[in-house]
Amino acid sequence: MCGIVGYVGHQSALDVVLDGLRRLEYRGYDSAGVAVVTGDDLAVERKAGRLQNLEGRLDEVGRDSFAGTVGMGHTRWATHGAPIDRNSHPHRDSTNRVAVVHNGIIENFLALRAELEGLGVEMASDTDTETVAHLVAFAYSEGDTKGDLPASVRKIARRLEGAFTIVVTHADEPDQVVAARRNSPLVVGVGEDEYFVASDVAAFIAHTKEAVELGQDQMVVLTRSGYEVTDFDGEPAQAKPFTVNWDLSAAEKGGHEYFMLKEIEEQPEALANTLRGHFANGRIVLDEQRLSDQDLRDVDKVFVVACGSAYHSGLVAKYAIEHWTRLPVEVELASEFRYRDPVLDRDTLVVAVSQSGETADTLEAVRHARAQKARVLAVCNTNGAQIPRESDAVLYTHAGPEIGVASTKAFLAQIAANYLVGLALAQARGTKYPDEVAREFHELEAMPEAVRRVLGTIDRVKALGRELADSKAVLFLGRHVGYPVALEGALKLKELAYMHAEGFAAGELKHGPIALIEENLPVVVVMPSPKGRAVLHSKLVSNISEIQARGARTIVIAEEGDETVRPFADHLIEIPAVPTLLQPLISTIPLQVLAAEIATARGYDVDKPRNLAKSVTVE
Ligand code: F6R
Repeated sequence: MCGIVGYVGHQSALDVVLDGLRRLEYRGYDSAGVAVVTGDDLAVERKAGRLQNLEGRLDEVGRDSFAGTVGMGHTRWATHGAPIDRNSHPHRDSTNRVAVVHNGIIENFLALRAELEGLGVEMASDTDTETVAHLVAFAYSEGDTKGDLPASVRKIARRLEGAFTIVVTHADEPDQVVAARRNSPLVVGVGEDEYFVASDVAAFIAHTKEAVELGQDQMVVLTRSGYEVTDFDGEPAQAKPFTVNWDLSAAEKGGHEYFMLKEIEEQPEALANTLRGHFANGRIVLDEQRLSDQDLRDVDKVFVVACGSAYHSGLVAKYAIEHWTRLPVEVELASEFRYRDPVLDRDTLVVAVSQSGETADTLEAVRHARAQKARVLAVCNTNGAQIPRESDAVLYTHAGPEIGVASTKAFLAQIAANYLVGLALAQARGTKYPDEVAREFHELEAMPEAVRRVLGTIDRVKALGRELADSKAVLFLGRHVGYPVALEGALKLKELAYMHAEGFAAGELKHGPIALIEENLPVVVVMPSPKGRAVLHSKLVSNISEIQARGARTIVIAEEGDETVRPFADHLIEIPAVPTLLQPLISTIPLQVLAAEIATARGYDVDKPRNLAKSVTVE
């Protein structure tokens, strides 16, 4: 949550920072702001609402007053303080010499604020961040840190509790940007005589692909001649260099109206890239395998912990992992996991699934699991993020950057990666013969083509979406792996179209939800294959006829050639025949398209749904 960017170099800092913010806006869009060091002064502007409001404001005040090559910016998802101009970042001290942008929550801010008020400081905002600006200003003006910005920031960083990435500039230090991090992301971009700091490489990928990932409790000082990483005591520290392995075009809309639509179309590649290289010499190979085969053989229970769509990917995978490994698999919302004292020991494998690798609940679940001696394997889409860093092993999904706030291609890639974990366990434990593991993998490998076929037929789904745009609510039903798909379909519709949507296990209908059925209520049903699980199929046909008899408008996603379901479907969406366990990889797609189309027809921005942000870095 919140995107931050800092720059020291030879280009216009305002241009570089605004461009970076444009690419980070998915992290929060409650307000935006910039600060540029101009000679011996600071030019600061901030504005509530989307980045375009800030840009409008800059045009009004005139961009000439922002001439300078050192600066920083922020795009906010509000935590402390309402999303209004006054609470927008950057925040300054009372003399307007220090500016700070911040991502995270400073948990001891009330005590810090009281201390500052005791010193006569008048707060100009309701935020936790402003305390940092005043504290750094005091540190810079007196004592052993006087006139030393890095030392002043270090001194204050040591006092902060909670989660923070802070970037600090000082009007008296026209050649420096100082940044520090704890529990929130920070990467350095290394260009030619220019350096960047940002929450995410997307902010500087237009300028350089060379990056350095800062570790926990590390600080960096950028100057035009280089960057220096230390810990909070000023001791030199090791940070991890890496090269970004995707191009600028991946972070551009590429002719699409929305990133989400582009990302839906990128799903075949996301799947193929996630599977690539994971089967060699007849065996499943995971990525950074810090877990030995013996570790995997010792596993006697699996937990999948995650939030939102990532949690749904775990619910899908439970069916496959239990089936392949005969191990019990519990799938749990990360926000519930650590507060209920789950039974964990060194033979428990906890799979932490997170696109961003930053989600606070999932990170805390990982820490809790490791403290209980469980082994943790992260499934993550972001190289070097905090969750993989703190896990015993990591399996990266290679979906590429996902900018649309609603997860699409990352969700599909998570399912594929979770399946790889299941196959690796089955292989190590011998619950599947090598040729069976190979067959399952090759069936997975065929899925990108099936996804491509579904994408080729979505125009009818779009037309249906426009028809449904005025509905008050939509229900989603499924059985077996179709049940988590129904949950995911409902989540997509809620978050994008702000419409009441619920997903149910179809078998639960008569235990309550059927009372919701009324004339013309759209109900989306995810049908299993008639060939795969015939019993499930016939049960679901009965469920559809029950709701149709009560007036529901049935929208049925079914396998091509499934004639039995046709009489009960007011709208039939056909998908190719694939193995039952793999069907979620294609049945999800019409649901993504439906939600996006309904939202667009209702006039909403599908990339930036209200109140949401892409990375949820606070609990
Ligand atoms: C929904 C969505 C969210 C995320 C969830 C977890 O479309 O995107 O529900 O899936 O916030 O995020 P990560 O995977 O980054 O931990």
